[in-house]
Amino acid sequence: AAPWRGVIPEYRERLPLVGALAPGSRDVTLAEGGTPLVPAPALSERLGCEVRLKVEGCNPTGSFKDRGMTTAITVAVAGGARAVVCASTGNTSASAAAYATAAGLRCAVLVPDGKIAMGKLAQAVAHGATLLQVDGNFDDCLTVARKLSEAYPVELVNSVNPARIEGQKTAAFEVVDVLGDAPDVHCLPVGNAGNITAYWKGYTEYADDGPATRRPRMWGFQAAGAAPIVKGHPVDQPETIATAIRIGNPASWEQAVAAREESGGVIEAVTDEQILAAHRWLSAREGVFVEPASAAGVAGLLQRHAAGQVDPGQRIVVTVTGHGLKDPQWALRGEDGTPVQPVRVGSDTVEVAGALGLA
Ligand code: F0G
Repeated sequence: AAPWRGVIPEYRERLPLVGALAPGSRDVTLAEGGTPLVPAPALSERLGCEVRLKVEGCNPTGSFKDRGMTTAITVAVAGGARAVVCASTGNTSASAAAYATAAGLRCAVLVPDGKIAMGKLAQAVAHGATLLQVDGNFDDCLTVARKLSEAYPVELVNSVNPARIEGQKTAAFEVVDVLGDAPDVHCLPVGNAGNITAYWKGYTEYADDGPATRRPRMWGFQAAGAAPIVKGHPVDQPETIATAIRIGNPASWEQAVAAREESGGVIEAVTDEQILAAHRWLSAREGVFVEPASAAGVAGLLQRHAAGQVDPGQRIVVTVTGHGLKDPQWALRGEDGTPVQPVRVGSDTVEVAGALGLA
């Protein structure tokens, strides 16, 4: 097969916002997308279903954000932008910084005070973004970023930018392209609600004109301390260890509710304990290392299974949204929360064999 070229070259005819650009405009791509749909045998056995993981940590900056950033930055460049801005819990800023660099644009990122995983901060800094830590949470950052882009010559690349959703919907295309049709159920974490909006758009477009015969039920999961859609009202002080989805007033709230309603799906809450248990399951049972927020889809699936709400025999896809190396601290704690300490040994084969229980 030909090498994967990135979501714009691969799906150009299905991306009207990019297709509408002047001929000769440049694609800003890091060859994102084309991520693996990994079978999850342990989960499949536990549920009596065929479960696969859409492993978005395999994107260039380690999260699904790259799918929407290639399109957003491509459209921004074609429109003559010189600088972009975003609010972020970390992954959007890492992605925006990388794609802005690839395009030769300046990038400013607004992140909430002190609640960003180290790996993500490092990415934004490494790619030369101007990093501002705002005294407030993600929702405050997004408010400022929106106002900034309205008043100053800087393009907003959060998922309220339609080009972001346009790129991110390609993940649904890829699932159908691999499976031959839509799955029965699609599970994913919900934070600012751009991704559930994008998947539903992608599945809908594929069902409307050919490649798929149907659409999945969308099962979205928020962290219990940051579950405004579940509660039905904004949460002023969102709290969760899954910092990526620590959001109290999602920008795509209505679209997420529409995806739930139109698909016959659900949006539910999962606790931090459930998220960490699912995170551990993915690492220790499936061999897939994700960041905590990314495990919320699996946590939710297990919650519904425990409640008898998962019919056996279904085909289920769970998006795991970001790479475990972005926020590795959670893996370095035991189930009881205590730090995992390496066993120290001398550089002696017999001693090492003894420590391994081989001798
Ligand atoms: N998983 C991860 C790893 C994320 O970084 C995000 C969002 C989500 C899930 C939720 O996706 O917002 O489309 O519902 N991160 C944003 C950011 C908010 O700034 O990086 P969503």
